[in-house]
Amino acid sequence: MNGSEGSESVAGEQLALAIYAEVDEGVHYLVVKVELDGIPVEGIGVEFFQVFEDGRIQSLGRDVTFDDGTAAYEGFDDSIPDAEGYVTVLVRVLAPKKYVGIEKQSRIKHPNPITSVGAIGLDAGEGLYKQHCASCHTIGGGESVGPDLAGLKARIPGKDWAIAFIKSPREMIKSDDYARDLRDKYPMEMAPFESLGDSNISLIVDYIFANDAGQSPESKGFSIPLPFMMFLFTLAMVFIVVLVVWFGTKANRNSAV
Ligand code: HEC
Repeated sequence: MNGSEGSESVAGEQLALAIYAEVDEGVHYLVVKVELDGIPVEGIGVEFFQVFEDGRIQSLGRDVTFDDGTAAYEGFDDSIPDAEGYVTVLVRVLAPKKYVGIEKQSRIKHPNPITSVGAIGLDAGEGLYKQHCASCHTIGGGESVGPDLAGLKARIPGKDWAIAFIKSPREMIKSDDYARDLRDKYPMEMAPFESLGDSNISLIVDYIFANDAGQSPESKGFSIPLPFMMFLFTLAMVFIVVLVVWFGTKANRNSAV
């Protein structure tokens, strides 16, 4: 169990909310335990929220406490962690009327280690990308303040290069010709993202690579996609077969006369 330690009385009432994360048969739950003077209360309606760094609040779900005083949101692993791998959550009491508006905010360790890759990892990468990078970059949507990241994978040496660059573009410019050319091409230099940490940057790069389709807009016009090549090839074969059959029957007919 991790989460806020113990409970805390809110708004003068003795109603206390304690928030923690729990795993049951591989499913991650965000749990709130509601107690009145130390006794679990049943039938308290609560809503779970995620609070993002920019102050945005997103509802995760609602539940009502059981006789042990707990209510839960199932799927805590779907939430998006912040740069340090935490999720800021807020639990607000919806009912009964007497307690409406009582709430508690807590910073909880995200249940999935943020180095994990996979569906969850990519979701986290997407969230981080949208939060930190999308203001200056697109992936396939054309130049913005920074370069279009479509085809990134193909034009840089690899993932390590990407991570090193994102951590500190200026360091990279010192030692790398490609980075220097980039800087010369754009009026501004990208800020360092060292503070995000390697594992978060790695998730962002995975997200970019998974979506960059290996094709930049410049290269699109020149290559014929493989399926289309296969189609043309099949068409040619069918044509040849038809010709052969046609000539064959014609020859037969001629010899029959
Ligand atoms: C304030 C605008 C801005 C933000 C935010 C920003 N970038 Fe950049 N980025 C740039 C600029 C400008 C360049 C090109 C000039 C340079 O190299 O400094 C660039 C270059 C890059 C490159 C090299 C591109 C290529 O075509 O080879 C990568 C990779 C990159 N950024 C990734 C990211 C990632 C990942 C984030 C989010 C963590 C991010 N950037 C956030 C402005 C930004």
